[in-house]
Amino acid sequence: MSIDYRAEIERLKKELPVTVVAHYYQRDEVFEMADITGDSLELARKCKADDNPWVVFCGVGFMGQSVKVIAPEKRVLMPKVACCAMARMIDSSYYEETVETIEKGGVSREDLLPITYINSDATVKAKVGKMGGLVCTSSNAVRIIEKGLESGKKILFVPDRCLGQNVANMMGLKSCVVGEEGCDPKEADVLCFNGFCSVHQLFTVDDVNFYRRKYPGIKIAVHPECDPKVVQAADFVGSTSQLIKYVNELDPEQKVAVGTEYNLVHRMRPKNTYVLSSTKPECPTMNETTLEDLYRTLKSIEEGQPLNEIHVDGETVHYARLALERMLEIK
Ligand code: 13P
Ligand code: SF4
Repeated sequence: MSIDYRAEIERLKKELPVTVVAHYYQRDEVFEMADITGDSLELARKCKADDNPWVVFCGVGFMGQSVKVIAPEKRVLMPKVACCAMARMIDSSYYEETVETIEKGGVSREDLLPITYINSDATVKAKVGKMGGLVCTSSNAVRIIEKGLESGKKILFVPDRCLGQNVANMMGLKSCVVGEEGCDPKEADVLCFNGFCSVHQLFTVDDVNFYRRKYPGIKIAVHPECDPKVVQAADFVGSTSQLIKYVNELDPEQKVAVGTEYNLVHRMRPKNTYVLSSTKPECPTMNETTLEDLYRTLKSIEEGQPLNEIHVDGETVHYARLALERMLEIK
């Protein structure tokens, strides 16, 4: 007999003290089952404020980990523990190597204030927390870098070179990618680690030009993980929530092409909304979670044998939490 996953998920959600959380990039059928949705910052804030002892997080690894770090008393399960490809580009040893390269370039570690994009492992957040730094997301990166600069230090921004450079450009700051030719740590205000999101690298200036030629007057809205040249050619840049708000508030006749993950476009008004690419920009890890996975995870709580529980060791929680809390304190 086949299982009606939707009905079973609804039943389990009613009977168990559990909150189902989903990022906007999740498959539609999974997203529709969620109690809490949002961009990374909203998800962190809402999960912290939520009362249920169990969280089932449909997203990528760093998101579930962040809930465990800010609310260690919660039991956090992930239907798929899929790691964001960008978060996988940096670990504690790459982080150390980057600091050493900067030191060789004439800037000491005491003169650096590290900021990590939330798309990073808890161990990297802990390194940053230990050095007095903080976390940012795509929706608050400008505000967090402004705050970081109040220390009078240079910003070490990890792991997304695009977000780091885009924010620096918006703020009129000098930035460069550590280790790249011509990057002089003494000259730059924001020193970026060389990480990136392969999904957002799919969008090009040629795509922007194509849409502008095809539909004169079209608006171009992109995520700040896109290449700085694409961001400079766009009309609007914002986090996933900010993109949804921007597009849904446009005049219904205004055409818009959106540069971010494919599933997000389904959260937007369908008419006159295009994907800024000739290929399908899907995040493979976000798309791993299925309705069946969500059902099995909820069922595992009912059966007393929780699947895919997120664990973070005490010392990592302590320092990573400092970095996350410093961000959450900033309005
Ligand atoms: P948001 O914080 O904008 O939701 O972004 C998360 C992400 O992984 C984008 O690729
Ligand atoms: Fe990570 Fe890119 Fe997927 Fe976002 S879209 S979760 S940054 S790989």
